[in-house]
Amino acid sequence: MSPEVTPFFDEATNTVSYVVKDPAGRSCAIIDSVLDFDYASGHTDTRSADAVIDFVTREGLEVEWIIETHVHADHLSAAPYLQEKLGGKTGIGKNITIVQDTFGKVFNAGTEFQRDGSQFDALFEEGDSFHIGQMRGDVLHTPGHTPACMTYVIGDAAFVGDTIFMPDFGTARCDFPGGSAEQMYDSVQKILSLPDETRIFVCHDYKAPGRDEYAWESTVGEQKAQNVHVGAGKTKDDFVRMRTERDATLGMPKLIIPSLQVNMRAGDMPPAEDNGVTYLKVPVNRL
Ligand SMILES: [Fe+2]
Repeated sequence: MSPEVTPFFDEATNTVSYVVKDPAGRSCAIIDSVLDFDYASGHTDTRSADAVIDFVTREGLEVEWIIETHVHADHLSAAPYLQEKLGGKTGIGKNITIVQDTFGKVFNAGTEFQRDGSQFDALFEEGDSFHIGQMRGDVLHTPGHTPACMTYVIGDAAFVGDTIFMPDFGTARCDFPGGSAEQMYDSVQKILSLPDETRIFVCHDYKAPGRDEYAWESTVGEQKAQNVHVGAGKTKDDFVRMRTERDATLGMPKLIIPSLQVNMRAGDMPPAEDNGVTYLKVPVNRL
């Protein structure tokens, strides 16, 4: 089964969202949506999500799932807005509870912030499956970037989130709380054990040196042969050393502070304060 995959690229955050459609019907899922956020002004905008809504409406699709591969640290999720406009159930990996516990503490969220994943309609575990119309999605737990990272294998397409990126860019960073380069290597091996012709759809693209166009689709076969971090038989030791050294040079993503506070709440803002205004916190010298 080969789903129809429509990408939506957000250049502001280098994020790719996907609409994944059952070729035999009208059912679809939306993976890793984006709510635009201008940090300087504190304003949100639904431009990116509205492009997805326009597409879904124009094509007459029924949204069954609004899924996250993980708690993103570089963009806000538009899941609540999309669910309100289009319906569907939200889902993420079960280890969201670990992420909620970690960042609930970092942001000193009050007791109103549940750390049990109950903000989502479904919490996925390794080996779970779900359906988009007649098409089955299989769930792989692929930690390393975060402890809650999942890969969704839908027909011949794998949505790998932040694990491998395009072959010429390599892999995602592993230095966030709960991240692990060792786990990343094992997760990547799990993805690369899928059939060679499996289509790989990544969550981000930053172009790579020498490449002028953004790209997001490759195959397991291409990744195995060409991925600059994990392809062509690179060893776990080599990978862990390279990843750790590289991560030490990376700055924090621009939107990590607002993203975590919103995405740990499944895309909802923190509750408004007694003046009716919603605030996002900046923990000083903490991240
Ligand atoms: Fe991420």
